[in-house]
Amino acid sequence: EKGGYEHFMLKEIHEQPNAVKTTITPRIVNGMPDLSECGLTLEALKNYRKLFIVACGTAMHAGMVGKYVIEKLARTEVTVDIASEFRYRDPIITPEDLVIVVSQSGETADTKAALHLAHDKGAKVLSVVNVKGSSIARESDMVLYTHAGPEISVASTKAFSVQMSVMYLLAFEMAYAKGHIDENECKRLTAKLAEIPDIIEKTMECEKKCKYVSSKLITAQSLLYIGRGLDYALSMEGSLKLKEISYIHSESYAAGELKHGTISLVEDGMPVIGVATQTELLEKTVSNIVEVKSRGAFTIAVCKEGTEFSEGVIDEAIEVPAMEDVLMPMLTVIPLQLIAYYTTVLKGLNVDKPRNLAKSVTVE
Ligand code: M6R
Repeated sequence: EKGGYEHFMLKEIHEQPNAVKTTITPRIVNGMPDLSECGLTLEALKNYRKLFIVACGTAMHAGMVGKYVIEKLARTEVTVDIASEFRYRDPIITPEDLVIVVSQSGETADTKAALHLAHDKGAKVLSVVNVKGSSIARESDMVLYTHAGPEISVASTKAFSVQMSVMYLLAFEMAYAKGHIDENECKRLTAKLAEIPDIIEKTMECEKKCKYVSSKLITAQSLLYIGRGLDYALSMEGSLKLKEISYIHSESYAAGELKHGTISLVEDGMPVIGVATQTELLEKTVSNIVEVKSRGAFTIAVCKEGTEFSEGVIDEAIEVPAMEDVLMPMLTVIPLQLIAYYTTVLKGLNVDKPRNLAKSVTVE
């Protein structure tokens, strides 16, 4: 049942190329994204006042990626909320808005409550759900199913990748609907997304290196993940994955926030993982890595192939193939998942079933 892999998590990590391909292929028609299956029209996409993306945990991180990409390309305001916060903060939602809920299981209690709240305020709800026929799918106005297949490991991996892939299709289609990109550019971006499954496969070549880096993390008391922009969203996901299964404390920080408090934690030997794939922000993030290095941190960079760092700044670099910046999260997540996986395996812990956690959180 584990298809020759030692754990479901590793199997599911390796299933990502196929899961993404299965999710996006039927939604690309004549080279353009096409989400009309759920009733989402170009006209409607053009007219939403604002989008809210609401989810928990890893699904919320996919929402963060969605926000960056939709705002950048479609120039529409997007708010991302943790469902348990959204439901109690009296958000300003109107019937002109679209609320997008993201959930692998489709049964998460807080996410479901967010959906009900959106309906109470008269907004339409689009859900991005993996489990067919789940409560959230049934109660939404529109559903875009992700086709990851069953995800058994408590730590979510392939569900995240497919959720992001749907966010990209949505962002491209919306950017086109609103006239911010023309048909050529929309086709170009969509073609790049369609190449992603093969490039994820190639990204798996970093597995050995990730295992080696993990061997350096098993004795850590605590570590930091830092990044900016899309890399910050991925830092959050990397940190969550590691703490959830390896029980090593970690925090993710927007790199620029470090000097507003967190950097005082850095002492000799503390591992800091710098996620640095975004070209425009690279120099800034590197300067933050230099700051932690000079305070004794053990620095690990997750970066594009061929990224050059000054002598002595990075102890270990994990390179992933270089792609369009906006699509990098689809690749960056691979080493982050592998580091969480191998650190946990090397510590001899139960990777697929971490203590205190359930796969599906159906109570508040
Ligand atoms: O089923 P959902 O996508 O709604 O679940 C949301 C979170 O509970 C889930 O992503 C959780 O954070 C994972 N265990 C993280 O790996």
